[in-house]
Amino acid sequence: MTFDRVPSHNRGVAPGHPWWRQAVVYQVYLRSFADGNGDGTGDIAGIRSRLPYLRSLGVDAIWINPWYVSPMNDGGYDVADYRAIDPQFGTMDEAIGLIEDAKRVGLQVLLDLVPNHTSSEHPWFKEALVSAPGSAARARYHFRPGRGPKGSRPPTNWAGMFGGSTWTRVADGEWYLHLFDQTQPDLNWSSPAVIAEHEDVIRFWLEKGAAGFRVDVANGLVKDPEYPDIGAEGVPVPYSDLDLLHDIVRDWRKVVDEYEAILVAEAWVESWDRLANYLRPDEYHQAFEFDFMQAPWDAEIMKGIIDAALIGSSGVGSAPTWVLSNHDIVRQVTRYALPQDVDARAWLLKGDRSLLDPGLGLRRARAAALLMLGLPGSAYLYQGEELGLPEVHDLPFEVLEDPTWVRSRHTRKGRDGCRVPLPWAASGSSFGFGRDGSWLPQPAEWSSLSVEAQDGVTGSTLELYREAIGLRSRYLVGTAEFGWVAAEGEVLVFDRGEVTVVVNFGADPVPLPHGEILITSIPADDGLLPSDGAAWLRPS
Ligand code: NOJ
Repeated sequence: MTFDRVPSHNRGVAPGHPWWRQAVVYQVYLRSFADGNGDGTGDIAGIRSRLPYLRSLGVDAIWINPWYVSPMNDGGYDVADYRAIDPQFGTMDEAIGLIEDAKRVGLQVLLDLVPNHTSSEHPWFKEALVSAPGSAARARYHFRPGRGPKGSRPPTNWAGMFGGSTWTRVADGEWYLHLFDQTQPDLNWSSPAVIAEHEDVIRFWLEKGAAGFRVDVANGLVKDPEYPDIGAEGVPVPYSDLDLLHDIVRDWRKVVDEYEAILVAEAWVESWDRLANYLRPDEYHQAFEFDFMQAPWDAEIMKGIIDAALIGSSGVGSAPTWVLSNHDIVRQVTRYALPQDVDARAWLLKGDRSLLDPGLGLRRARAAALLMLGLPGSAYLYQGEELGLPEVHDLPFEVLEDPTWVRSRHTRKGRDGCRVPLPWAASGSSFGFGRDGSWLPQPAEWSSLSVEAQDGVTGSTLELYREAIGLRSRYLVGTAEFGWVAAEGEVLVFDRGEVTVVVNFGADPVPLPHGEILITSIPADDGLLPSDGAAWLRPS
């Protein structure tokens, strides 16, 4: 397969518009993207070998999930050394080589900053464990005495994100906080050492050419120093979205500004009123629009979310950052294939499989792509969505690696199903992912979803994404104004400059406005856009 025939569309934007403001960014889940050394796990060599593919998609940048030294208890979000590459992914030379190669073909490289917690294998935590209560080494984390007789009860009633308690007791009787797995102790951001260390880590990677960072758990850095119980009357969640965290971000912003780099927030907050705070001019450049990602396939709900995002972001002089999936959520092809009131995450474990309509899911996912890529702002694609990959919902329990599975005591299946390695070729033991097998098994049906099977095939999902990104760059990037034309019943119609975007969420076909059709997610004969389809056109 060669991709040279497909032009790159990432040619920057109109003057006065920084590249990231309307960028399409491709998320590379490193373990599952491409395996260069044939050990079954994706690596840096794999990404380098697939740069022509990324270029052929026309994206502006890639975001690479954590590649730092890690025991991999949470897929690399448990960092033992922030300044070194985990050997399973390659070497520092290869990392620098990738950043340089990517730049040469017009792709920026964003890295993942994991400031909320370290791994329990990090030297700081090891030092904390052998240091006394009250020591400077413990002050970098949240060590607390327990409650009750002999301090045998955890300091608070907070529940962990993956299930279980957020506290683990150490030999001398103190407890340490971990919002996630017990191998991911939370750092204490009131410690000057923690602040200084992260500033240094940021500079370290910017000096190596990174274009910025996606910031993990951006809403969770600061904890209420009183450690109140959750649910106590009048007390907001004591570990999420506390105002003090914005001071930390402002300091980071000064550093990244020196390098013209960007910060992207993974912030799970209640409303746009709160998310907008992260996008103030001296804070993050982008913050993922997670309401859009989690919305059911419903015109009215989508419109409400789009309006809230456009209004909320423009109020602080920013723009929305759209996303339909990532490595933490059930893939959209599967979400949209279920009745929209079914909780896809819960369904993974023991939901009724007969509820699934894969054809419907793919149809909606393709329409959703044209909706997202038609909106103002930036968009993040999660690897494999351009192939229309579904969630692998039937992974056997024994292969699951997500700590959620164990910590939830087998009540939540976790996120492995959206992390299955990409199929590059239509045949072979791992569909061209690597030489011999992959760390999670790929379904046999992925042969027909492989890059090889879709490349150059008119109407394939891969070609739909390529074409849409190209058209976006041609018509929508720059100054194309947004305006609703109609949002009645189950159809959304909006203008972006000279282009009109139509999305039909309803059951019946709808007539398209007259004009030149640029792209459709589904064949639209006789000027009719079928159910669950989308189109871009230039009205005449
Ligand atoms: C969000 C990341 O996306 C997720 O994969 C991880 O498990 C948690 N943060 C903890 O770092």
